[in-house]
Amino acid sequence: MLRVGIIGCGDIANLNVLGYLHSQDTEIVAVSDTDIKKARDKLEQWGLRTIKIYSDYREMINREDLDIVEILTPHHLHGPMTEFCAKRGIKGISVQKPMAHTITDCEKMIRICEEEQVKLKVYENFRFYPVYLKAKELLEDGIIGELSNFRINSINAGGPSIPRDLKSTVWRQNFEICGGGPWVYDDGIHKFSMGLWLMGQERVEKVYSWIDYFSAVFDGPSYILWRYPKGNVDESPRFGIMEITIAPNLYYPTNYYVCDEYIEISGTKGLMWINQCTCGGNFISKSPHFPPIIVYTNGEVNTYGNDLPRDWRYSFINSTEHFIEVMKSGEKPIYNGEQGKNLSIFAKMAHLSDQQKRVVYWEEMTSENEQNRSCSVEAPKDINGARLHKYFMRIRRDFKKGIKEGLIHKELKYDKDLLSE
Ligand SMILES: NC(=O)c1ccc[n+]([C@@H]2O[C@H](COP(=O)([O-])OP(=O)(O)OC[C@H]3O[C@@H](n4cnc5c(N)ncnc54)[C@H](O)[C@@H]3O)[C@@H](O)[C@H]2O)c1
Repeated sequence: MLRVGIIGCGDIANLNVLGYLHSQDTEIVAVSDTDIKKARDKLEQWGLRTIKIYSDYREMINREDLDIVEILTPHHLHGPMTEFCAKRGIKGISVQKPMAHTITDCEKMIRICEEEQVKLKVYENFRFYPVYLKAKELLEDGIIGELSNFRINSINAGGPSIPRDLKSTVWRQNFEICGGGPWVYDDGIHKFSMGLWLMGQERVEKVYSWIDYFSAVFDGPSYILWRYPKGNVDESPRFGIMEITIAPNLYYPTNYYVCDEYIEISGTKGLMWINQCTCGGNFISKSPHFPPIIVYTNGEVNTYGNDLPRDWRYSFINSTEHFIEVMKSGEKPIYNGEQGKNLSIFAKMAHLSDQQKRVVYWEEMTSENEQNRSCSVEAPKDINGARLHKYFMRIRRDFKKGIKEGLIHKELKYDKDLLSE
């Protein structure tokens, strides 16, 4: 039985624990959070009230003889916590995205984990969402031919959504801690991940972006364009785009965050549309107009994945189960440190391009250039929280409208039927 410890019992811990709660191979033996009351409440919610809580994660690591540690804390702590755990002999470290803010820190984490023979997983769960896994299988079978363009619309909607801890939004407004905006950097990492993985790429060649720092809270609306590296001279260029849409009056019930994703991939002989991820399973998923995957090719339209679970939680359950398997089998995790670093680089390129108003190339994203500051992302200057407030007061006068209209979300339950839902 693999002994698991969790550092950080905040919002995302609710989802990261799912894969462990039902595993026959692991046991959560301890958690750590500086907020002991929060940790206690979470353990109660998860049905684990008897396990030990530490306010200092170092004490937990030193005392508990853990095999796996989940690092689920604010971004700036990922690097130092990974380093401490690796040096204290933890053999499996799963760290939430973004891996770290700087390339230098990502490289340090990779190096230390290699030296200490630690399996380092960067937890990007979209890669494990059942509908995306099916789409990837179809694309690899060549259903739309050679892939050319990728487009993702990431919509920030109006809820109602899962209740969030206010503290969780406060640290996200401190640039030193969060390292970038919530939509392009924090959440964007998942979307950049899809832009690479679904297109069969490990990196991009160059990025150009327009990020509207509309307020202290939103780095959107935004447009981020990129070109993939060319394999052969006779290959046609391939591009990707991410658009971030702000739609506060789009009432959109979700069990999770107020955001959803729509992807379109073009190939040399067809088109694929992938509907929803974070809010998959809500009432839109039940409409025949929004099947999980639609493919047009050879004069025919077909849908796929209708029998797959569309609730976002399965991306977490699958991701954690994958890591447990990796720990048992000795294979490499998805994402490993190098791949996790690539996701951070991609997201930083978008911010850098907007700040420097120029095309940013992958080659220039190095730890050396970070030190001479030519590729370091600076804290945004003209942010104005009051503007967002005014916007909301004008656009979204009734904050309870979604709920009044009956668009009620269903909170995540921790019961034994969870996996069969
Ligand atoms: N995969 C996803 O879809 C997804 C979604 C949301 C958040 N995340 C990631 O998860 C991480 C945590 O985000 P969150 O939304 O859960 O934040 P949160 O603020 O809700 O939770 C963080 C927790 O860490 C605790 N903490 C802070 N410092 C600590 C320390 N020194 N020792 C122990 N505990 C400490 C806090 O008290 C808090 O309970 C972030 O890196 C974020 O990017 C991922």
